[in-house]
Amino acid sequence: MLKHEHVISKMSGQELVRLAQAMKVPLTQRTMSKEELADRLTDEVLHFEKLGKYSLPTKIADPAIEIRKLRKDFGDTVAVRNLNLKVRPGEIVGLVGPNGAGKTTTLRVLTGIIRATSGSVSVNGYNMAENPTEAKERIGYIPERPTCYPNLRVSEYLSFVAKVYDVPQYRAVLRTSEYSEMFQLRRFMDSYIGTLSKGNLQRALLVGIFMRPEPYVLALDEPIYGLDPRGAWSLKGHLRDLRDSGSAILISTHILEVAEALCDRFVIMNEADVVGRGTIEEFRKDLSVSSLEEAFLELTGGIPEE
Ligand SMILES: Nc1ncnc2c1ncn2[C@@H]1O[C@H](COP(=O)(O)OP(=O)(O)OP(=O)(O)O)[C@@H](O)[C@H]1O
Ligand SMILES: [Mg+2]
Repeated sequence: MLKHEHVISKMSGQELVRLAQAMKVPLTQRTMSKEELADRLTDEVLHFEKLGKYSLPTKIADPAIEIRKLRKDFGDTVAVRNLNLKVRPGEIVGLVGPNGAGKTTTLRVLTGIIRATSGSVSVNGYNMAENPTEAKERIGYIPERPTCYPNLRVSEYLSFVAKVYDVPQYRAVLRTSEYSEMFQLRRFMDSYIGTLSKGNLQRALLVGIFMRPEPYVLALDEPIYGLDPRGAWSLKGHLRDLRDSGSAILISTHILEVAEALCDRFVIMNEADVVGRGTIEEFRKDLSVSSLEEAFLELTGGIPEE
């Protein structure tokens, strides 16, 4: 999160009034300029933060994600066979593989949407089967096909998320302002979710995740896919910042340029099995390939002949 004074200095008049209301700062001086109000609110935010009432845990468990011997069957189909995977705070791991490899299934088990056939998953040290509430509390998930409450306005959805996660109201106003700017969502705050385009829905869900305090444990299923170049740029930059400040991020993708530019290491799946894992440098050395694309092709059926 940016420094408060920076976020406040970029707020519209309407947002400043909302922030004042959230902190119960009386707006009696009608002649107060926007700059004066912004200064006053910056002081108030510092004061609120100093009270320390809302200090939240600043660390997540290491590993933040732990998947052990995961198997998931759908009838006769084995979607994931024997997956072991850890994501530590401060790293972005790419789960890559061809269509049907088992990536989405893995993320759905990890977020507690479906149950494992056998094996286990833990988030922030909590086993999903034994402590589902604690495990789900930390995880931020963007599904492959985003869905959300169509009859809520974007602003209503964001306040709803803030309430669910006990985010103090003034922080929710600050975060809404910062992230709606970052993801170019400002003009859609009053739109109904059901009317948003695919990419804007994805942005709204992302801002929803970032209403909560850092550090995060993120499970993102093809997060770049629906975004335009500006949205993709903003998200990639933000994910790198989050990684650098201690969040743990697992991304499934088959857009290999994105994976290569963003991820610290990779787990490559093919037809339910892990067929490779490591960093780009390790793939280069062990497989004598020059890129993630070549490693991917080599490990998932061979590089096609010209
Ligand atoms: N609910 C389900 N019922 C039956 N089979 C399923 C279900 N969900 C997934 N599968 C099967 O499990 C396998 C893995 O699917 P999954 O969606 O995890 O792949 P993926 O790696 O995410 O692929 P993609 O790159 O196309 O998104 C596929 O064979 C798929 O048909
Ligand atoms: Mg998928």
